[in-house]
Amino acid sequence: DGELCLSRSLVNSSDKIIRKAGSSIFQHSVEGWKINSSLVLEIRKNILRFLDAERDVSVVKSSFKPGDVIHYVLDRRRTLNISQDLHSLLPEVSPMKNRRFKTCAVVGNSGILLDSECGKEIDSHNFVIRCNLAPVVEFAADVGTKSDFITMNPSVVQRAFGGFRNESDREKFVHRLSMLNDSVLWIPAFMVKGGEKHVEWVNALILKNKLKVRTAYPSLRLIHAVRGYWLTNKVPIKRPSTGLLMYTLATRFCDEIHLYGFWPFPKDLNGKAVKYHYYDDLKYRYFSNASPHRMPLEFKTLNVLHNRGALKLTTGKCI
Ligand code: CTP
Repeated sequence: DGELCLSRSLVNSSDKIIRKAGSSIFQHSVEGWKINSSLVLEIRKNILRFLDAERDVSVVKSSFKPGDVIHYVLDRRRTLNISQDLHSLLPEVSPMKNRRFKTCAVVGNSGILLDSECGKEIDSHNFVIRCNLAPVVEFAADVGTKSDFITMNPSVVQRAFGGFRNESDREKFVHRLSMLNDSVLWIPAFMVKGGEKHVEWVNALILKNKLKVRTAYPSLRLIHAVRGYWLTNKVPIKRPSTGLLMYTLATRFCDEIHLYGFWPFPKDLNGKAVKYHYYDDLKYRYFSNASPHRMPLEFKTLNVLHNRGALKLTTGKCI
């Protein structure tokens, strides 16, 4: 169908993406943007048919006992043991229970944020969600510093903290977490095998340093439920990216969702190079069909939602 053809052409090659970059599917104006509150309510209601973010945002202590063996969500043949440390860091109740906000920011990690001067605007929202423990202090003018909820794929330990090989890597990590105070640190620990020792090291550091951060570990059904919602709405994603997951969860808690740092394309609309991440030199990984995500398709979908007033997508300067 038309939707699927478009998504294929979008993910196939970055060249096609750049050629399409001039087309209307990427264009959205922030001037004159207005929230469509009835659409926001409708989306919240529809998503609730698939998941309840208040519950699915994290498993809780009573979900498991130490020593329980569970199957990885995306690799059912492999299993994980619920360790004593992991169990002790599970929240007693959902960290998002009864939390409601007028405006929220979901901050993706695209280099489109550089020189955006969006820091103040991002920090002005009632609740700020960030991804993958992205650094903020050095980029405060463009990305802000407020972080009420921050995700951390286990691979971040390797990618940004040297696999904790040196004491200084561990110190840098503990320092980063101590800046979060009692924000929610969301660790997708049950997705695929591979990161379990990183999760254990993270858990051990949190406990040893008595960090106040509120750990959360997404429910075993969350990712399938989120994918189910988007598939039912004819958005043929493979696996939702962290950014899309965060938007989907935020619909439960936030009346107005503002997205920043979503731009999975190597050039902007004027042809200027855009880094994959605002803070490192990681290259674009999500164009081949082998990748787990379809970020360009996700972007196109978020853009449609922006144009309908369901969310506000900022990809330019904040003035
Ligand atoms: N993102 C984007 N454009 C980019 C980079 C990121 O739109 N150039 C969005 C995506 O929704 C992504 C989120 O910002 O999930 C967080 O970025 P990142 O930490 O880079 O996510 P990845 O590790 O690349 O992917 P994921 O965690 O989703 O597997």
